[in-house]
Amino acid sequence: MSSSIKIERVTKRFDGNLVLNELSLDVRPSEIVSLIGPSGCGKSTLLRLLSGLERDYDGRLLIDDQPVTGPSRAVGLMFQEPRLMPWLNVRDNVRFGLRQENGAASPATSERMDTWLRQVKLDHAASHLPRQFSGGMAQRAALARSLATEPGVLLLDEPFSAVDALTRMRLQELLLEVWQRTQVTMVLVTHDLDESLYLSDRVVVMSSRPASVREVLAVKAPRPRDRRDPELLRLRAHLLEALDVVHALESADLPNGIPFGV
Ligand SMILES: Nc1ncnc2c1ncn2[C@@H]1O[C@H](COP(=O)(O)OP(=O)(O)OP(=O)(O)O)[C@@H](O)[C@H]1O
Ligand SMILES: [Mg+2]
Repeated sequence: MSSSIKIERVTKRFDGNLVLNELSLDVRPSEIVSLIGPSGCGKSTLLRLLSGLERDYDGRLLIDDQPVTGPSRAVGLMFQEPRLMPWLNVRDNVRFGLRQENGAASPATSERMDTWLRQVKLDHAASHLPRQFSGGMAQRAALARSLATEPGVLLLDEPFSAVDALTRMRLQELLLEVWQRTQVTMVLVTHDLDESLYLSDRVVVMSSRPASVREVLAVKAPRPRDRRDPELLRLRAHLLEALDVVHALESADLPNGIPFGV
């Protein structure tokens, strides 16, 4: 399933402080969109609004043309840390999101859990506890859990930031495999420019706080992509300029003046 997202002139304040300023963005069904921007500009806040966890805002947020009114099975969420229940085995962790709404899990949902575990290549480890997992395995379990409700939208907040570079690339490949099968619409927050260019149809550059959309970059390279594709490298150089990273690093009062972690 894949849903559309409409963000219309969304403004968000915390205690009177403006964080998002009339931010607008449309995401098409099945699209993968990355959000990049300076630390603290409001990326996680925007995902929390889209997930329905944060409700106090001005403007309109629509998923499949329906206003977002609270958390919903139609929207999956994944964070930097896996947030697994340490006392539940992996299959039960994946099932956990369904249980909350459905009561006891049915045999049909057990089968579905195993399908999701197969998709993230954890079927061999279904009865393991999270403490037996590497960081990459834990994030695969978290991905399966966020997909278990078969959401039309998957929101990912720096999902691979805590794993090593090679594991990160493997997780990116896995995410693309899942996307190819499910066609789920994805909004990915990342500080990794290469990740944003490798995965996305469009990269959205946000301004510093109060955030609005500063630039939208289309990534037209066909999939499967080659990480060494000169077009991706050209776009990367453009993003570095757009984020003022080159200039900021030259003029920054190090180490605190770096506005963006690359
Ligand atoms: N619950 C809250 N109450 C008050 N202020 C908050 C709250 N959540 C976030 N903020 C503030 O809103 C701003 C945006 O925070 P947010 O976490 O969305 O930034 P971000 O772009 O995700 O940053 P990072 O890249 O470091 O994760 C920050 O100034 C933060 O301090
Ligand atoms: Mg954040």
